[in-house]
Amino acid sequence: MSRYAELIFEGKKYILPVVEGTEKELGLDISKLRDETGLITLDAGFKNTGSNTSAITFLDGELGILRYRGYAIEELAEKSTFLEVAHLLIYGELPNKATLSNFQKDITMHTLVHEDMRKIFDGFPASSHPMGVLASLVCALTAFYPNALDPNLSPAETDLHIIRLLAKMPTLAAWAYKNEMGHPLNYPKNSLSYCENFLQMMFAYPTEDFHPDPVVVDALDKLLILHADHEQNCSAATVRVVGSSHASLYSAIAAGINALWGPLHGGANQEVIEMLQEIHANGGNVKKYVEMAKDKNSTFRLMGFGHRVYKNYDPRAKIIKGACDNVLNKLGVSDPLLDIAKELEEAALKDSYFVERKLYPNVDFYSGVIYRAMGIPTEMFTVMFALGRLPGWIAQWREMRQMKLPISRPRQIYTGATLRPYVPMGNREK
Ligand code: SDX
Repeated sequence: MSRYAELIFEGKKYILPVVEGTEKELGLDISKLRDETGLITLDAGFKNTGSNTSAITFLDGELGILRYRGYAIEELAEKSTFLEVAHLLIYGELPNKATLSNFQKDITMHTLVHEDMRKIFDGFPASSHPMGVLASLVCALTAFYPNALDPNLSPAETDLHIIRLLAKMPTLAAWAYKNEMGHPLNYPKNSLSYCENFLQMMFAYPTEDFHPDPVVVDALDKLLILHADHEQNCSAATVRVVGSSHASLYSAIAAGINALWGPLHGGANQEVIEMLQEIHANGGNVKKYVEMAKDKNSTFRLMGFGHRVYKNYDPRAKIIKGACDNVLNKLGVSDPLLDIAKELEEAALKDSYFVERKLYPNVDFYSGVIYRAMGIPTEMFTVMFALGRLPGWIAQWREMRQMKLPISRPRQIYTGATLRPYVPMGNREK
């Protein structure tokens, strides 16, 4: 056995094998712990617990490193495209020209959704948050493609469902927005690229022609790449847990959308803008809000700051911050919220509370400023995150199924009442 740890419990010594990854990460293999010792481990929020090995994404939180299948996020954001990255994450390799062209064509030919979906849309009031609409409609895809319920699909059949998800989610996302605005729905156009198509479905009106701004198209493609995967984050872990029961891929992705919606996860990008707007409306006193974020009696948190893994600057935040200036300048937009965000970051990174806790801006801190400049409404920000994260969720689900991992079913330590007899109602004192 290469490396191991010794556990001494009640005078008996146990050997725990140590698993080493390709980036020299080490993990204690406790898969036999309970059988051998009767012990389980406890780790609220899984802060120290690995659920699986994976070959998809590598993060180094201390060094601020993020790589998809070994490629640095900085290179992919600069040189690749979202669909090329999607193929890389899901299938493990950058596609050649022919493979990418076929992948793009397959996606283009599946962007339409069944017309009966419009009946489901009509049931949502305009007040519905687009994330709730999107999660519901992605799960509803199981109704239109029931063979997705078969856990033993062939690879080709599975690939078709993967194509359908990548193709239809932008359509469903744009329709969720149009539904909220009470505008007519736009249909996808096969002549447009992935990002151009999404933007025209979002912003085109029957009364005028719409031509997506190339600056916005390029910025969107980069943002989708930056959000594409992030190893075992809350929503990816959710997709794996739901997928481990052999529920359909659509159900697992819908569960991931719901997990991402939370303000501590993907919902933070909407919260950041709302926080910046509040600071702006109250005179821009960032110091006051930094102090509030430190005050344990206040529920206020600096949204877009802090991360479970990154104890250094989130490399995605660095890229997005740089893109902010570039995109806003190209679009001729000046946004006071960007200035406030930069002031907030500067004030926080000088403050011992944040420095001691290694709290840095994360992916959500600046992304909303770009979305605003692109004309994306605030309540659609987390939907944008979901569109970017979709290939990552699919890759995590596919890896979990290919590895034939068991159903996820954590243990617990029970702390409730011990055995007690049933007391009939008439004999109870209270
Ligand atoms: C994403 O996991 C991923 O990879 C996620 C993600 C992805 O790509 O999938 O990167 C996307 O979800 C980014 C995170 C977006 N969420 C936010 O920006 C919300 C604000 N941040 C947090 O609430 C918090 O930082 C978390 C949820 C991101 C991480 O929480 P942890 O790891 O459970 O850490 P914690 O809450 O225990 O905080 C540690 C300390 C605490 O103080 P003490 O108890 O030690 O005194 O730091 C404090 C916290 O109070 N703290 C903050 C803070 N974040 C943590 N204090 C003020 N403002 C904050 N934002």
